[in-house]
Parts: sequence; C-alpha cells; structure tokens
Amino acid sequence: MGNQQSQDQTQAWWQSGVIYQIYPLTFSDGNGNGTGDISGIIRRLDYLNDGNLDSQTSLGIDAIWLSPVNDSPMIDNGYDISDYRNICPIFGTLAEFETLIAEAHQRGIRIIMDMVLNHSSNQHPWFIESSKSKDNDKSDWYIWQDPGYKDGLPNNWLSYFGGTGWTYCEAREQYYFHIFNKNQPDLNWRNPEVKAAIFDVLRYWLDKGIDGFRLDASSVYSKDQYFRDNPVKFGATDKNAYHNQHHLYDKDLPENHQIIREIRSLIDEYDDRVLIGETFIDSRLYDSTSFYGINNDELHLPFAFEFPFSPWYPGYLQREIQKKERITPEGAWPTYFLDNHDIPRHLSRWIECALCTNPQAIAKAAATLLLTMRGTPVLYYGQELGMVDFEDIPPEKLQDKAVTNSPSGEAPPNRDGARTPMQWDDSANAGFSFGKDVEPWLPVHPNYQEVNVEAAIADPDSVWHFYRSLIQSQKQSEALRQGRWRTLIHYPYEHMAYIRETDQERVLVMINFAYEQPFELDIPVERENWRVLVSNKTEAGKLIDLPETLQAFEINVLRKE
Ligand code: NOJ
Repeated sequence: MGNQQSQDQTQAWWQSGVIYQIYPLTFSDGNGNGTGDISGIIRRLDYLNDGNLDSQTSLGIDAIWLSPVNDSPMIDNGYDISDYRNICPIFGTLAEFETLIAEAHQRGIRIIMDMVLNHSSNQHPWFIESSKSKDNDKSDWYIWQDPGYKDGLPNNWLSYFGGTGWTYCEAREQYYFHIFNKNQPDLNWRNPEVKAAIFDVLRYWLDKGIDGFRLDASSVYSKDQYFRDNPVKFGATDKNAYHNQHHLYDKDLPENHQIIREIRSLIDEYDDRVLIGETFIDSRLYDSTSFYGINNDELHLPFAFEFPFSPWYPGYLQREIQKKERITPEGAWPTYFLDNHDIPRHLSRWIECALCTNPQAIAKAAATLLLTMRGTPVLYYGQELGMVDFEDIPPEKLQDKAVTNSPSGEAPPNRDGARTPMQWDDSANAGFSFGKDVEPWLPVHPNYQEVNVEAAIADPDSVWHFYRSLIQSQKQSEALRQGRWRTLIHYPYEHMAYIRETDQERVLVMINFAYEQPFELDIPVERENWRVLVSNKTEAGKLIDLPETLQAFEINVLRKE
C-alpha cells in the first residue's frame, strides 16, 4: 500500500479511514459511450485521494466500496451476477480491474468489492442448469419447492420488491424462491457445494488483492428448512406486503450467523481485509449489531440504516446514536452512512423537514455529524457536492428494472433518482464522459451547472471543501478517529453538542440544526481555549472561547488546548 496507511497502531485501516461508495454505472465514463466504467474510475482516482494530505483538489478518502462490477444482465444493475469471476464488459476487462486495484493501492486507496451471494442472476449457468430438471448436477443449488396449499404457492414468503417470492418453473414443475426480483433466484446455502463454490470465488478475488467485501443482503442467506409461513403482523397495512410480516423464517436465522462466521475466518486468513455486510434493510438496529457475532467473529462493519431512517431532528438522531453506542459490543466498531444507491439522497429526504431553502447548510451539518461519529463514515458519490435526487427522470429513461418490472403498487419506489451521473463540471452532461458529449446512461440532474466538482473546488465555502476539511481533521485527530463519544445535552431539541475524547485529546462538536433560531449555549465544558478545526463561522486554526450563542446552522468542531 502507498503513503497514507492508517497512522494508528491500535486501529485497523477500516476503523480509522473514510469509505467512499462508487456506483460504477454513473461515476465516470472513461471510454466515452455514456456508461460509467473502470477506466473512468481510474482517471478519477486522484480526485478521491492524490496522496497529499494538504491537497486542495482531492477529497482524501481511504477506501472505495465499488457496487458490483461482475458480469451481469443488469436487471438489477449488477446486483444480479451471471459470472462471479469476471468483469462485466460494460465496465471493462479483468485486466483493467487489476489496474484499478494497483493504481488505487499506489495512492493508499483500498478497494472493497460488492459481493452478491444471497442470489445470482437467472442467467448464471448454475441457475440455467438447476432449472432444467430435478436431477441435474445443480438441481439443489437454488431453493426449489413443490407447489403447496396456498394458491399453489409453497408458503407465504414474499419478495422485498413486491408480490410473492415464488416463481413457477415449468421444466421442474416446481417453484424457486427469490427474495428480490424473479430474475434473482436465491442460492441454497444449505448445500455444501454451493458454499464451497462461493468460498472459491471469495478467495479468487482476495488473491487478486481486493481489500475486502461488502456482502449484499447478508442477513437473508439462510431460510427455514421446514419452509414455515411467516406470521403476519397484527394491524400492519404497508402497501409493500413484505413489511407486514414478521420475518421469522426467511431472514436473520442462526444458520446465517454460522455462514458469516465461516466467511470471516476465510477473510482472516488474509492480512488486513475487511468484511462489511448489509444487514438487510428491514432489520432493526439490534438485528444488525448481532452480526458482529458473539465473539466479534462475524462482520467487521454491519450496515444499519439509522441515519437514513431518521428525520432531520437532533433528538431523534441522538437517540439512534446513543442506542448504537449502548449496544455495539465491546471490541466492535460502529459504522454510519447518510446515503447509498437504494435510498433518496439525504438532502432530498431532509430538506422539507428542515424547513430550509439553503441545502448547503444542511449538507454541511449532515457532513459534520457523519464525520465526527465514533465509527467508520461511508460516503456515497456526489454527497460531497450536495447532490440531490433527480425526481423527474422521464419514465422511458428509467433504468431500475428490478423495481419497475416488479408487481406494480407493491414495489418500493424507483431508485434511479439517487443514481444520476456524478457532476464533474458545467460542460454538457456534467463532463461525465471524458471529452465527449454523449447521452449518459441516466440523465444528469439539471442543477449540474451550479453543483459540480469544478465549481465546488473553486469555491472555498463549498460543501466539498467542508467535507475535505472534516476528512483532514479526522486524519489529524486521534480523538476524532478513535475517541469515546459522549453527549453534552441530555435530549437535544434543535442543536447537538458532543465530545469525542481520548485520554490525551478532547474535541467538541456543536451543530445548530435550526433554520432561523440562535441558541444560548448552555453546556458543561470550560469556555476558554478551543482551537477551531472546522467551522462555518470561524476561520480554522483560530484559538477561541466558546460563543454565548450558536447561530442558525452554525457548526463548530473544536479541539481543547
Ligand atoms: C441490496 C442492494 O443494495 C440493492 O441495490 C439490490 O437491489 C438488492 N440488495 C438485491 O441485490
């Protein structure tokens, strides 16, 4: 690895660093055909981290989580893999992918691959074979059941994308189960051959130098062996019926923990790799922390959705943080994110709630929250610019087929709004395709002339510079990287104030979430001698006494001298 390895002996790189998620179809188009690709990512690596801590043009992230780049028919845009060992030609070649790993490592950037192991594509040779008959080599590689008693279906399990989770196969006169789209059949993890084949795939990529995996839908691998019906929740009336069941028998099963433990021991045979898991979207925080494992021997970082599911309200956000602080096991490490490719971007979620017409103010406050938590922050591409969802994509341009071709009225909302092309500059199509003006895979958000990387870098007050300063401060402060977290306000109403501290260093974070209201600062800390690390009111580096009041949207990250 290059020049920016974690400075701490006590922390792993995935605890002290910042992870940046790239959605490859829309991050950067290197070959000029309108679709994002690996060569495009390679050309943008210096933007992510050029190895210079004081850089004014580079964000300074430590690792990329790359949404899937394996071969895929792209019904779920890569989350439906048809060849686990190859790179989808849309993105480039295996050789280019190896170059990406090498080039990233030279800059101190790690690469985390998205591994979709709950299901494959129905175009995967395993499934093609499996669906031919009941007695072929791969007949037991997926979850097959005879027709049953309820409308002919084997049981009442549902698809998260709407409708039943069972699809009939004429050739076998049986149903197969899919928790997502019918083109994404669930693998049968109870079959030791399946497990062995998947473990081979993991080794294959680890041997190529991958720094870890983000396991997609990692809490739904195991299903009940008796195929019992899920109980229906009393009084629940969600239009996506999936949410109206207690998922006792199709997720979070004890066997799932055993599988993750085995994957973790495989990872542990290699130096310094990370195992991240998406503890599935319907899980509560408790379910998610259970995936650290009883001996911290499962996921390093289980993703839970506490910020995405919170309103823009300090009391609520703080309650979630406190809960997570309380139930994260000893020796385990939290992780937080605001956005990802499945949910509306946080500015789109929060702008109305905050009654504010100045999204930049919310973006900076949210950035501060994310980057001063005790836990690894994960950024989603474009978040550093204050990108918002494009809500008016013409229907004929939509690309989220997994959702659009699922039963209408029940499927979750289309996710394309949060997946529009990265906005690089104010040239046609936001400079998405290097040197070319071609129509991108998804339309660019119309605000690209104001919101883009070039403009953000040129403006010292931009959201982008705020992110960069927060990331730099994090690199220079042990308290921010690994310090304890404690609140200074019992139940915050419009502002938050908390401390991150080690035995040697204390950092105070104060954020006023309110649009118009200044707040009298009444917190139990000394008022004198605080060094400004990041602020939207006071110049960084200044030594100040705490202000009497915190102005609307004022943010201060201060180190005690
Ligand atoms: C979770 C992924 O994040 C999402 O994009 C995908 O559609 C489902 N899993 C199915 O793989």
